[in-house]
Amino acid sequence: MIRVQIPATSANLGPGFDCLGMALELYNIIEMVPGSRGLTIEVSGEGASDIPRDESNLVYQAAGRVFRQAGYTPTGMKLRLFNQIPVARGLGSSTSAIVGGIIAANLLTGGGLSIKDIISLAASIEGHADNVAPAVLGGIVVSVQADDRIKSLKIKSPQGLRCVVAVPDYPLATRASREVLPNQVSFQDAVFNVGRTALLVAALQQGDLSLLGTAMEDRLHQAFRSSLIPGLKKVLAAAKLAGARGVTLSGAGPAIIAFADSNLELIAKVMGDTLRQNGVKSRVLILKPSPVGARALEVK
Ligand code: HSE
Repeated sequence: MIRVQIPATSANLGPGFDCLGMALELYNIIEMVPGSRGLTIEVSGEGASDIPRDESNLVYQAAGRVFRQAGYTPTGMKLRLFNQIPVARGLGSSTSAIVGGIIAANLLTGGGLSIKDIISLAASIEGHADNVAPAVLGGIVVSVQADDRIKSLKIKSPQGLRCVVAVPDYPLATRASREVLPNQVSFQDAVFNVGRTALLVAALQQGDLSLLGTAMEDRLHQAFRSSLIPGLKKVLAAAKLAGARGVTLSGAGPAIIAFADSNLELIAKVMGDTLRQNGVKSRVLILKPSPVGARALEVK
């Protein structure tokens, strides 16, 4: 039996569209047990009523890619999924399924894939590496695609950094959230984001939270997505007023993530209240960045 734990992730961190992400201390656990026949999938926790129990299951699909590469044909398989990561909210639930399936299958077939192979394979399934790389490596990760490989580098999370995450009660598919984005942006807006992404990486690296307000601003995606998240602009402003250092949409949304080192309860309250005033029910989580990425808890 193989048991793997995978962290939630938040991508973009504001301006770093498709290239920045961080792991959070909220985990899914996948158990993979090779069996004599058939496929059995049990799901508990987040998504228990919706996640497919057949061969279309994302964990199974991702594992299948590794099995085919390794020339392994399982006669049967049992998967048990214990989910803490809210599904389709911008917190990397699909990434966790892909990364977990790949790592479990890799362990089952003798570990032929390196960490870099795992990141590149997972990113090719997911479509981008910004959630995948921190899910595998932990911490905050910069990643870019170069030809068919992913180049990534981990930054340690600043000490004392906490994340206040408002999770709306409705799902938003990443595809739908990308459909509202323009095909072209202005040179000025590209420059705006390049500068802030660079500043954000430097600020995080040096633990200078005072720069996050400016460094987490974005002009490439958030404003276009605000029609999909009622009250987004107001939540961003309210969280900052309550003491957040920076605040942004988490990945493709609809979750909204604030970075802070104090006033956590107040920030959580105003984010939830502001969403409610805009007709959106939500729950608010206070999370630490996860220094560790996906890891095997048991291999036997
Ligand atoms: N960067 C992606 C997006 C989400 O904003 O559409 C996570 O991969």
